[in-house]
Amino acid sequence: MRDEFLEPGPIADEDTEEVGLRPRRLSEFVGQTELKEHLSIVLEAANKRGQPADHLLMAGPPGLGKTSMAGIVAAEMGVHLHITSGPALERAGDLAAILTKLEEGDVLFIDEIHRLSRAVEEILYPAMEDFQLDIVVGKGPAASSIRLTLPPFTLIGATTRTGMITGPLRDRFGLVARLDYYAADELEAIVRRAAGILKVQISTEGAWEIARRSRGTPRIANRLLRRVRDFAEVRGDGTIAESTAREGLKVFGVDELGLDKVDRAILSAICQQFSGGPVGLSTLAISVGEQPETVEDMYEPFLIMQGMLARTPRGRVAMPAAYAHIGLSVPTTARPPALFD
Ligand SMILES: Nc1ncnc2c1ncn2[C@@H]1O[C@H](COP(=O)(O)OP(=O)(O)OP(=O)(O)O)[C@@H](O)[C@H]1O
Ligand SMILES: [Mg+2]
Repeated sequence: MRDEFLEPGPIADEDTEEVGLRPRRLSEFVGQTELKEHLSIVLEAANKRGQPADHLLMAGPPGLGKTSMAGIVAAEMGVHLHITSGPALERAGDLAAILTKLEEGDVLFIDEIHRLSRAVEEILYPAMEDFQLDIVVGKGPAASSIRLTLPPFTLIGATTRTGMITGPLRDRFGLVARLDYYAADELEAIVRRAAGILKVQISTEGAWEIARRSRGTPRIANRLLRRVRDFAEVRGDGTIAESTAREGLKVFGVDELGLDKVDRAILSAICQQFSGGPVGLSTLAISVGEQPETVEDMYEPFLIMQGMLARTPRGRVAMPAAYAHIGLSVPTTARPPALFD
């Protein structure tokens, strides 16, 4: 009967909370001014013509608002949003099943579109270009192909790797948008907005402290806010002043630049274990206990932007700023990274 005490209460679901923090309309979406301007023109023009908007590709590091933007486009156009992802569409039939469910003007969002298989991508081309779907029925010599006409729709693709999108696929998008890292004042606005939704009181300085350590990324800003809120509720009076933010972030291992344990593990692995590099991505990933893709997409871009790490053809190399950040002196024997050998 001991299990009685293990009954789970209502699950505090961070995913549900993240959904709640998603901006729903273009006007709620902070930052990315240029992208918002382009989009508002494209959407308004499509609305005026009574046509669906052109297909849209969004590229950029994780957590910058690609999925949110897909939802916003559907909301602004007043249509349904259908969500799927590259890896989920294993066979041509998987995509056909989704395409045939679309209604006129709907938005189809394909996350991680760079991971679509070739077979699925080939079905997508005529669907994007002419709203035609070719389905093969039967097998062997008796097989025949049926052509279906789809209602016009808007495809939104998202990718963290523009380089991995094939040329023919990229060319079929009417607008390719790159999302950039956010400035600290934009992140501050995002933190204040999220604090309002989570009903937690935060001072301007408190919001700034969280914003400037969020590595330019709204998802991280929201996550740090939630951790600081926990800290404030347990160790303080529930409100977030500058000192609460500082102490809370310290408890959760977020340093002055916003680097976390994994970031610092990456830097010290290269600087110490691999004597400054070059070290290959997979070796580096194993040594910090992460997947290579996670290191490459989530951690490296910010470390590179901060001038701490460099990618060379022979592997990753630590820059002087990396040594300084983890409190080591730059070894005099360290060779400058050979960028072109
Ligand atoms: N411009 C913004 N304004 C306010 N909040 C934002 C903005 N962009 C992102 N967010 C917040 O960050 C969270 C992550 O955004 P989103 O899921 O759209 O990112 P993503 O680019 O799709 O990431 P991934 O590549 O990991 O799928 C959202 O839940 C939202 O709360
Ligand atoms: Mg997403």
